[in-house]
Amino acid sequence: DTCRPPLKYVKGVPLIKYFAEALGPLQSFQALPDDLLISTYPKSGTTWVSQILDMIYQGGNLDKCHRAPIYIRVPFLEFKAPGFPTGLETLKESPAPRLIKTHLPLSLLPQTLLDQKTKVVYVARNAKDVAVSYYHFYCMAKVHPDPGTWDSFVEKFMAGEVSYGSWYQHVREWWELRHTHPVLYLFYEDMKENPKREIQKILEFVGHSLPEKIVDHIVHHTSFEEMKKNPMTNYTTISSDIMDHAVSPFMRKGKAGDWKTLFTVAQNEQFDADYAQKMAGCDLSFCS
Ligand code: PPS
Repeated sequence: DTCRPPLKYVKGVPLIKYFAEALGPLQSFQALPDDLLISTYPKSGTTWVSQILDMIYQGGNLDKCHRAPIYIRVPFLEFKAPGFPTGLETLKESPAPRLIKTHLPLSLLPQTLLDQKTKVVYVARNAKDVAVSYYHFYCMAKVHPDPGTWDSFVEKFMAGEVSYGSWYQHVREWWELRHTHPVLYLFYEDMKENPKREIQKILEFVGHSLPEKIVDHIVHHTSFEEMKKNPMTNYTTISSDIMDHAVSPFMRKGKAGDWKTLFTVAQNEQFDADYAQKMAGCDLSFCS
């Protein structure tokens, strides 16, 4: 039964119970030289950048990207759930060069990825939109505990008492990592503003070059509207017992600044004051 088990703390980080159980076996994971890690705090643009990268790897051929759902094409490192192959098992079946998804904070990341200097594409999204998106995801994805009211969820988000812990620490530690590790640090809001520019940054980082016509084709097929109707990216291939899209679709709104529709003035003030403290001394800045 996957229904709403409580989070399980590992080294102080709250995780979905099954994912916490996956960490032990992950010790045997070996990074390969041409692996590429897609790292994000949840709800920050993971699926979007995953589809962009698979399209790049397939030379812009959308038919090849229809070969399997995104969670098979880009295995989810710490994934575990009853009745499914684990992320580790899916990775063992995946041909190189592999794209790998993780939401793990650095304290739980398998050391091999750091030792092998695995290239990382990190995507960060502004905290308020992440909190709103995460709330809706908690409601629809029943592997999470019950989110309670929005008001109580936003408190838990600020306290880092949601799956994967503190957003603040996550965005900060991966930002610092770029000094010592090959990290391309992207922002969801920049991708919304100018997806072509951000895709060009990704191309350069992964050392691919594609004709402009193909880049435009990738921009088009990785838009929110296209990915929302694409069964290989929209998670509708997952049974509704696990992800109930009638509660809230995985491809929900895909906007920057949607937090304004849910935060009250009081919540916003409290969030801003807390944010200033948690992000003090950090040179990361977010739009909207
Ligand atoms: S997960 O479960 O952590 O892997 O989710 P993740 O993919 O990181 O985040 C889901 C949110 O990203 C939005 N999304 C997109 N926005 C813009 N363009 C594209 N192509 C796109 N694909 C996914 C998705 O709608 C979720 O955000 P919200 O705000 O809930 O709509």
